[in-house]
Amino acid sequence: MNGLFVTLEGGEGAGKSTQSRLLADRLARNNRSLLHTREPGGAAGAERLRALLLAGDHGLSLRAEILVHFAARFDHVERTIVPALAEGRLVVCDRFFDSTLAYQGYGLGMGEAEPLGFIRDLIALTPLTPDLTLLLDLPRELARQRLARRGRDPDRYERLDEAFHLRVAEGFRQIARAAPERIVTVDAAGDVEQVHRALLDRVEERLLP
Ligand code: TMP
Repeated sequence: MNGLFVTLEGGEGAGKSTQSRLLADRLARNNRSLLHTREPGGAAGAERLRALLLAGDHGLSLRAEILVHFAARFDHVERTIVPALAEGRLVVCDRFFDSTLAYQGYGLGMGEAEPLGFIRDLIALTPLTPDLTLLLDLPRELARQRLARRGRDPDRYERLDEAFHLRVAEGFRQIARAAPERIVTVDAAGDVEQVHRALLDRVEERLLP
């Protein structure tokens, strides 16, 4: 496959959705064909699983929830991402398996060995690893201020308590420390334009020299 696969990660309120849209728009201007997609979702079946995962209580155990995230991911990988990469496209994806490690492994699973090992086994079975992952890092207090200004209803994960979100943020930092060759952390505390510039610079220096 001769395309490139870039993922964006981060906790709630770090500006990931805005930044990934800006990044994709900018890269689309001077690049070959680009696909902008997201998880959970990005394919018809995966979008149905997204609705199940993000609406009210789904009643699943933690491992079952992890498997549903991976079911959505496999659908997305097989039907959307791999075909795009095979055509040589640049794929920019909002969230990928690092989100499962952070949210289900560190957040819901409290960072215990068992859920983390289960997720790592599923990652090993996933037929694709990002060429580059951009992690938007923001102190939780700033993220909370940004979320308070956002108008829409929170999803199931956003409604969880402060301790959960602190574990997710710290989980992302640990994940990034363990994979410095793939994951670049970008400080998301600046204004939209500063963060956008920093992300673009990282993509250019790592992937598009
Ligand atoms: P987002 O579209 O705002 O990024 O929302 C997706 C939500 O799903 C977000 O709260 C993070 C959560 N999520 C997980 O818990 N595990 C995962 O594997 C993925 C991809 C997302």
